[in-house]
Amino acid sequence: MSSMIEVKSVQKSFGRLKVINDCSFNIEKGSITGMIGPNGAGKSTIFNIIAGTIPLDTGNIILDGEDVTNQTANALFGKGLLRTFQIAHEFSHMTALENLMMVPPRQLGENLFNAWFQPGKVARQETKNRRKALEVIDYIGLDHVKNELAGNLSGGQKKLLELGRTMMTDSKVVLLDEVAAGVNRTLLKGLTDNILRMNRDLGVTFLVIEHDMDMIAKLCDPVIVLAQGSVMVEGKIEDIQNNPQVIEAYFGSTDAA
Ligand SMILES: Nc1ncnc2c1ncn2[C@@H]1O[C@H](COP(=O)(O)OP(=O)(O)O)[C@@H](O)[C@H]1O
Ligand SMILES: [Mg+2]
Repeated sequence: MSSMIEVKSVQKSFGRLKVINDCSFNIEKGSITGMIGPNGAGKSTIFNIIAGTIPLDTGNIILDGEDVTNQTANALFGKGLLRTFQIAHEFSHMTALENLMMVPPRQLGENLFNAWFQPGKVARQETKNRRKALEVIDYIGLDHVKNELAGNLSGGQKKLLELGRTMMTDSKVVLLDEVAAGVNRTLLKGLTDNILRMNRDLGVTFLVIEHDMDMIAKLCDPVIVLAQGSVMVEGKIEDIQNNPQVIEAYFGSTDAA
């Protein structure tokens, strides 16, 4: 197996607070890699560094063999790396289907060129885009609400729609930061199933940061435990859950228990 993402000796401080401390790990191609750790461990920070939304201080991020350290989120998107975003306020007045159709294509420059010089090609592209959006909405099980305004969807349906948006782009790797928060059990299963299917059918690599241990157990291999800004241990969930060091990090001293 080869690496989709390599995180190499990353350091990051906010002011005098060192949040990421000599952090290194690999995300293998085709894996669904989980990340857990106590609150404040630095999970969202390393996530945002990988996604290109926070610059690192020192270290390197390698994406599919290419050094992409401190490239912008837009540049990384063009290279097939995508994080989910909450459906922004302005999109809540568009239908679920329209939300999928307006996801920007990966090669924006080329399409802008086409818009000026090849209007016919753009029209064909739009038809293709609509067809793809219909496929995606069916795939994620939201066909029955495709014409609902996104703002009227339930919290869980919005999460599925966010995942659907990642599918419009043919991304190679998708980053998810606590997407299960506040999602009911039924839709959580839908979300989990769809991540598994995207991984198996489409070969998408995932990094999943999650509080929900059931979801981590169903989806992720390996699981990385982050504590105080660096990797404490990495392995299969069964081993992680029984690791005394991990139990200590989560629940404090085992002697006191
Ligand atoms: N923009 C920021 N400015 C200052 N401190 C921050 C910032 N973002 C996060 N932190 C601090 O960095 C630490 C790690 O935060 P975070 O990465 O959100 O942890 P986690 O996602 O594991 O809960 C926390 O102590 C948090 O308060
Ligand atoms: Mg977080």
